[in-house]
Amino acid sequence: MKQEMSKYTENDLKTWNYLFEHQYSNIHDKVCWEYLDCLQQLSEALNPHEIPDFEKLNSLLYLKTGWTIHIVPGLIEATDFFNHLKHKRFCSSTWLRSEDELHYIEEPDMFHDIFGHIPLFMNQDYADFAQRIGDLAIKWREDEHKISQIQRLYWFTIEFGVIRRKGKIKSYGAGIISSIQEVNKVNNRIGDFNKYDINEILNRPFNIDTVQPAYYVIESFSELYKSLNKVERLFSKAA
Ligand SMILES: [Fe+2]
Repeated sequence: MKQEMSKYTENDLKTWNYLFEHQYSNIHDKVCWEYLDCLQQLSEALNPHEIPDFEKLNSLLYLKTGWTIHIVPGLIEATDFFNHLKHKRFCSSTWLRSEDELHYIEEPDMFHDIFGHIPLFMNQDYADFAQRIGDLAIKWREDEHKISQIQRLYWFTIEFGVIRRKGKIKSYGAGIISSIQEVNKVNNRIGDFNKYDINEILNRPFNIDTVQPAYYVIESFSELYKSLNKVERLFSKAA
């Protein structure tokens, strides 16, 4: 699939501009500095003034960490998604929500995928963690239970992860960063904020349609990567 830049309308640009400006002004003191730093590094291709061109984004991303964006029509099979992660490809849609869905969408659109997810793929620790999640999933692709455990891990980190910085909770998960309500909720400490615990995460089902009741707080991005050694051990033992 290709991104057809000529198909975006004036309204799409208005929507993108609105979402970017509003969200950026809301998050700048609520998200981890790594996200903001990465966003800045991508600013010539990722900014409020133009619909992001994936080719331009890809050249910046590829140069830094070897990742690229892979275009998908919408949600895809979990193992296909993880296979893309394994090969340093992050899946994104190219469509943008309409004006009447500014604050809530049922399926991830380009604002969620690109604004929420892509910047941190410029961070090596984070990018390595995501790739290794893909590796693990493909290694255990025939084991449905382990795949659902890896989905939980993905959910509580890449989608809804938070990090402690100087006693404060900052967000790094894309599901939080791309949502005004979520980022404010985390900032106001609404919900349970638990110590990052692999055993607990692997055994905790999540619900995609409700407000997040719980978050797991990491202390550093390198902690994420290291925690996968434990997942490896647990999975090998249970095999
Ligand atoms: Fe997402």
